[in-house]
Amino acid sequence: MTDDQEPLVNGTAARPDKRLFTPGPLNTRPEVRRAMLRDLGSRDTAFVDTVRRIRRGLLQLAGVSDDQFTAIPVQGSGTYAIEAVLQTVSPREGAKMLVLCNGAYGRRMEQICRTAGIACETFNQSEEQALSPAAAAPLLAAGPLSAVAMVHCETSSGVLNPVAELGRLVRQLQPGAAFIVDSMSAFGAVPLDLEAAGVDYLVSSANKCIEGVPGFGFVIARLERLKQTKGNSRSLSLDLFDQWAGLERSGQFRFTPPTHALLAFDCALQGLLSAGGVAAQASRYRANNVIVKRGLRRLGFRPLVRDGDDCYIITSFLCPTHANFSFTELYRRLSALDQVIYPGKVTDADCFRIGNIGDLHEPDMHRLVDCVETVLRDMQVPIPVTYGDPQ
Ligand SMILES: Cc1ncc(COP(=O)(O)O)c(C=O)c1O
Repeated sequence: MTDDQEPLVNGTAARPDKRLFTPGPLNTRPEVRRAMLRDLGSRDTAFVDTVRRIRRGLLQLAGVSDDQFTAIPVQGSGTYAIEAVLQTVSPREGAKMLVLCNGAYGRRMEQICRTAGIACETFNQSEEQALSPAAAAPLLAAGPLSAVAMVHCETSSGVLNPVAELGRLVRQLQPGAAFIVDSMSAFGAVPLDLEAAGVDYLVSSANKCIEGVPGFGFVIARLERLKQTKGNSRSLSLDLFDQWAGLERSGQFRFTPPTHALLAFDCALQGLLSAGGVAAQASRYRANNVIVKRGLRRLGFRPLVRDGDDCYIITSFLCPTHANFSFTELYRRLSALDQVIYPGKVTDADCFRIGNIGDLHEPDMHRLVDCVETVLRDMQVPIPVTYGDPQ
């Protein structure tokens, strides 16, 4: 989507930023943005201390101890961190990955494996439903696997997958396999007991539920597993073992770190921890999500994902079938009212998405619903919207 450019005055937007109802980059708190107004050298002790505090804070947020787990930041977007994990855990000989997949981010993991030449099997399920442990069990039981990977919240649809149940199955049926969870859009806001779920590697990034700015992803890795991965990596820069070893040795990144993004993240993470951590974030996001779902349902919109399989991070709504409705037009008109929504990303349904993470609060969500109603009226789409089929 292209947008009209906001003029900048001394590098700052002349008016408040639009509200981003997206899965990231997100609206950030002013103090998070202010934390970036420093130029720190990557070897400066203040910066090294910041990285140490971030690594410790991530373990605290995950509720795990530093004798079992370690936190490893990886430069780049979230996909870089996922790629670092997938190809560092896979031995050069005899690797076999199983991806449990119900959406675009599951397919991306499969694509990463194929690109890296890692043998990979995919368990594919409907994009509109949470992964079924019972349906996945036969594939999990067949043949030895080196790793099993899945997505926590499939941001492409808004489905929340049952990590704990699947993790228990992995431990039972494939005790030797590493269990990898892409929790990009859930970590920090959706509770997950890593020990109980048997998670070995959890991946997320700076600009999701912790509400930092883009620039790096991070991995929370079980030390016992990670220590067995030396020499596996097919890539120099995406070698998770070496990244960890370098940080442990000197407290420094091997290659140039995104210093400003790390300073912002430190502020965001410490803020979240002191505000109550995962429980606090979950409670605000849940309240935001209730408002947007209730409001759009009142306007006649149908969510793609049924209650129970959904997540309070992002919601896919089906596009109405009335001739006057067009997502492009809805997007453009909402953006002109400073409300930025997101296109759909599922294969077989015409949808759009509304995220409710970031520095968004209840008044923001009410305003969005009001704006959607205004825009529908302007587009002459009858309210409640309809779908041209009997309900
Ligand atoms: C579940 C999930 N996995 C992977 C990614 C990819 O992250 P990035 O776009 O930061 O590379 C995203 C991005 O939204 C995501 O939501």
